[in-house]
Parts: sequence; structure tokens; C-alpha cells
Amino acid sequence: MIRIVTTSLCHTDMFTLSGADPEGLFPAVFGHEAVGIIEELGAGVTSVKPGDHVMPLYTPEDPNCPYIKSGKSNLCQTIRKTQGQGVMPNGTSRFSYKGKMIHHYMSTSTFAEYTVLPEIAVAKISNEAPLAKASVMGCAIPTGMGAVRNTAKVEPGATVAVCGLGAVGMAVIQGAKMQGASRIIGVDTNPNKFALAKSLGAHACINPIEFSQPTQDVIVEMTNGGVDYSFECTVIGVAGAGEEIATPLSVGYRPRLAQVAYLDAVSCPAWSTSGSAVTLTSIPTSPTT
Ligand SMILES: NC(=O)c1ccc[n+]([C@@H]2O[C@H](COP(=O)([O-])OP(=O)(O)OC[C@H]3O[C@@H](n4cnc5c(N)ncnc54)[C@H](O)[C@@H]3O)[C@@H](O)[C@H]2O)c1
Ligand SMILES: [Zn+2]
Repeated sequence: MIRIVTTSLCHTDMFTLSGADPEGLFPAVFGHEAVGIIEELGAGVTSVKPGDHVMPLYTPEDPNCPYIKSGKSNLCQTIRKTQGQGVMPNGTSRFSYKGKMIHHYMSTSTFAEYTVLPEIAVAKISNEAPLAKASVMGCAIPTGMGAVRNTAKVEPGATVAVCGLGAVGMAVIQGAKMQGASRIIGVDTNPNKFALAKSLGAHACINPIEFSQPTQDVIVEMTNGGVDYSFECTVIGVAGAGEEIATPLSVGYRPRLAQVAYLDAVSCPAWSTSGSAVTLTSIPTSPTT
């Protein structure tokens, strides 16, 4: 059992709350991006102890899972089935209200003062990590950085466009900067995001609302032909099993040598039952990764 100290709001919580998530179960305790402190241990738990600072993992890494052992994927399947059913691995829930069962969400349910997780879904973190802000390491940062570094494998000198400058988009910018991207262009309909984006590494930011032509055309003009990589980080949510999704921003976007990274990066994969990726197919000329 973990006492949650800080939890942040990922747009995926909003997406599920909207009712559009094919895996959404109600009622549920939402939240999956958090840090906390171990309060009590269940029988047989050995990897953490009370007082340890920990991060809930919505995609755990069971060392005995064949997917993890393969080294080719971290889409651990050990608790995936019951996670999708909104319950603990033994099929029960730890939440109820007036005697009625409430589902777990992403097996983390961090919008609670206390939550219960399977041992493999808990990562011990340094006690030095600032608990007030480390929660974004639970989803947004590994998703954005992982998309850049592990999925797209952006190389030094590459040019990058980032659509959506929320927590994931900001992490993409940081990842692109760390990879040595030569030009990073941020795109958002909210110009209040631009200052932070630039402080993290964006060279320019554009607001689609300010242009009469499609955003992709603006970027093509800005870059003399298009960017090498584009990342979709707006509010389209996550793909259901086998589902492909696209956004108005990405439709018709034809960047030179385009590659679209999954939002569910290798380091922080999607939580859909099949482990299916968020594939943007609306870039006809691009090999999707
Ligand atoms: N592993 C995963 O697959 C994974 C993990 C985290 C988040 N996500 C998904 O990533 C997306 C981003 O999540 P977040 O938490 O960073 O969201 P967020 O709400 O923090 O940020 C979204 C940003 O997109 C901008 N935006 C919205 N519509 C736009 C448009 N039409 N054009 C340009 N900008 C637009 C908003 O102004 C905002 O700045 C969500 O769809 C979320 O579900 C997926
Ligand atoms: Zn998330």
C-alpha cells in the first residue's frame, strides 16, 4: 500500500473520463502519474519496504514475463489482463463506496490518498527525488523522451516538429534537444505554452490559429521542405486495441523523411490491452515507426 504524495493529471485521465476510451471502466479511481511512500507491505513483498519512495508503474516490468525477457519489448503482460478489467491480479478491487465496488484504473489509481499496487508495478526511486514534482516521471517524461530516443531514434542534426506542448510535448522537446536536434518547432493553439517550450529547447513556436494555411504548409515553408520527425502530442487520447488514430494537425502533413513516433514510446508503452501503438497513419509518405 502506498501513500500518494503527489499525483499529476495526464490528458489520458481526461480522455478516459470523456467516455471515449474503449477500455474505460466506471466507476473508477483515476490517476496514474504519481509518487508516494510505501506504507504497508502485502505478504511476500521483498523489493520495497515501508518508508521507501516509489513510483507507480502503469506498465510494470516483471522480470519473468516472456515479453520482458525477450529484450525486444517492455509491454509486460503479467498483470495486463486484470489491469484491463480494473482489478488487482487476484481479481478483486481495493476500492469501494457504500459497499459498491470501484475499479482500479491503469492498475495505479493515484487520485487517492492511499492506493494498492502489485509489487511489479512499483519502482523504488531515490529519496533525494523531489516528491513535489517527480510525478511527471511516471508518464509524460518517459513517454515523450522515449518516443524521441527509443522509437524515432532522432539523430543529431535532425529537425523536429512537436504538435501539442503539454507535458508530453515538453518532454519531446527536451528529448530532441538531448539528441542534438538542430531545429525544434513547437505547435500549439495556446501561446501561453511557448515561453516554457523555448526555455526547454524549442527554436520556434507557432500557433495554428494565426495562419490561414494548414499548419503543415507553414512548417514546410519554415524548413524549406519539412522536418525530419514530427510528434503528435495533442489531445487525441490513446488508441484502443488495433485502432488507428489521426488528428487534423497531422492529416496531410508530409514532412521530408517523416517518421512519426508512437506516443507510447518504448520506455513507456501504451496501456491498451493488446499493447497496440498509437499509430498516426495520416502521413502518406512517411514510414511509421
Ligand atoms: N503512453 C502513451 O501513449 C501516452 C502517455 C501520456 C499521454 N498520452 C496522450 O498524449 C496526449 C498529450 O497528453 P498531455 O498530458 O501532454 O496533454 P496536455 O493536455 O498536457 O497537452 C496537450 C496540448 O495540446 C494542445 N492542443 C490541443 N489541441 C490542439 C490543436 N488542435 N493544435 C495544437 N495544439 C493543441 C493544448 O493546448 C495542450 O498544450 C494525450 O492525447 C494523452 O492521452 C499518451
Ligand atoms: Zn499518462
